[in-house]
Amino acid sequence: MKVLVLNGPNLNLLGKREPEVYGSQTLTDIIESLHLEAADLNIQLSHLQSNREYELIEKIHESAGEIDFIIINPAAFTHTSVALRDALLGVAVPFVEVHLSNIHKREKFRHHSYLSDIACAVICGMGAKGYSFALQSAAQFTASKD
Ligand code: DQA
Repeated sequence: MKVLVLNGPNLNLLGKREPEVYGSQTLTDIIESLHLEAADLNIQLSHLQSNREYELIEKIHESAGEIDFIIINPAAFTHTSVALRDALLGVAVPFVEVHLSNIHKREKFRHHSYLSDIACAVICGMGAKGYSFALQSAAQFTASKD
């Protein structure tokens, strides 16, 4: 099974960026431990972090027919991007939306997501563990397809 992890803008700053909100782990830490978990689950993991919306969109396009499941933290694009929504609908690759923080406990503009109603699941407020839960759910998703 192939899983693509996508991280949106400013998530390259994890560790330094508002650690009281996003935790002290860097994105490299998170992705390294996700790779270890993926190996145990027999999952082939690939990852892209980008601050550019078009790069995320192009990666989603490339995933059609290649990737079984997407784990995406769209970061600020969550609240703005019809284009990311359309890309995910366009390729029809199932996905889980992850947020480190509980976006519903924060400013009102973070409460709305352009992706949540088309996601298999949304995990927020669990910190970096959210990615791990998403990975476990990806494996379950394939199991339920067989
Ligand atoms: C975030 C929440 C978003 O509102 C914010 O813009 C981010 C990170 C999170 O992981 O909690 O950049 O997606």
